[in-house]
Amino acid sequence: MPIYHSLGKIPLKRHTVFRKPDGELYAEELVSTEGFSSLYSLVYHCHPPTIVKSMGTPYSVEPKIAREKHLKHTSLKGFKIQPVDDYLESRKVILANNDLHISLAAPKKSMTDYFYKNSQADEVLFIHEGSGVLKTGFGKLSFGYGDYIVIPRGTIYQIEFDDEKNRLFIVESFSSIQTPKRYRNAFGQLQEHSPYCERDIRKPKDLETIDQIGDFKVLIKKQGMMYPYTYGTHPFDFVGWDGFHYPWALSIHDFEPITGRLHQPPPVHQTFEAHNFVICSFVPRKYDYHPLSIPAPYHHSNVDSDEVLYYVDGDFMSRKSVEKGQITLHPAGIPHGPHPGTVEKSIGKESTEELAVMIDPFKPLMITEEALAIEDEDYFASWQS
Ligand SMILES: [Fe+2]
Repeated sequence: MPIYHSLGKIPLKRHTVFRKPDGELYAEELVSTEGFSSLYSLVYHCHPPTIVKSMGTPYSVEPKIAREKHLKHTSLKGFKIQPVDDYLESRKVILANNDLHISLAAPKKSMTDYFYKNSQADEVLFIHEGSGVLKTGFGKLSFGYGDYIVIPRGTIYQIEFDDEKNRLFIVESFSSIQTPKRYRNAFGQLQEHSPYCERDIRKPKDLETIDQIGDFKVLIKKQGMMYPYTYGTHPFDFVGWDGFHYPWALSIHDFEPITGRLHQPPPVHQTFEAHNFVICSFVPRKYDYHPLSIPAPYHHSNVDSDEVLYYVDGDFMSRKSVEKGQITLHPAGIPHGPHPGTVEKSIGKESTEELAVMIDPFKPLMITEEALAIEDEDYFASWQS
């Protein structure tokens, strides 16, 4: 995240002597991206972060692809994903390609006896239902309904949920999640025309140094495998850190919609970008105010992009019979558009309460076995009058 942040105690100069009260040196770690060329943070641990006690047997967590190639408008009933006690086991990949994996999860229990690190992807957790705290060495991030939590790869974390009713929509990105470049000035600051700014971005706080020796299980995901590691020191033993690389949060409710006299195209909803896909937010807003405007979207052909919509709340004006947690995948190659009757119905309407997350991947998505289990098979024919 291109905002400098610092928590806890750090030395005046980097790479200099920095001792604990007992005279021992703290262990400095550079956490850097794109080699040493992009965002980084300097972390000061009570103990070296390298003390591995044992390694368990790795196992595959690769999604099982059911439809590698397809050309079918697809709808999934996301809330049919069954709640599962364990956080990692609750995560079900439904759509995947080489740039991203999209998952649904309904975890019931907090993570108490292990930590998790995704070493292959940045994660964006969209909180549809539930609340709690993301705990990392960088500090804590409280979350609730409508939050996007961006967790850069390599961050060891635990989640504490407030209760058992949680629904998450998760994107794993094999490239870094960034704010849209066109909204940043030459110094990285979000410009005046950006739909959100640094004031809306929540950074970690309440750093709590846990200086403990023992057995700490960290499940590390890399290349579709999960590697069970046992470390000899607590992963949250940061006494301090500074830099630009850390988890952060943005509420969809803080995304300010861009509106106009005529229908605004989807890029006005863009919230994040990554290599080969974007994430957009559709939020409650005033409709177009030209006297003859048609608020419903026109039919469109995604010539070089699939389109995934995750329906969160409100009435989605261009669709009929949409329910919370529903996902539509409109693949590149065939047009899609408003359902019959919705264009006429939208004329004269002044505002919408719709809330949805959209992902446009520039390469085709594959559909997993988990997705087939929650598919509405007749959706492709839903445009018939
Ligand atoms: Fe669309």
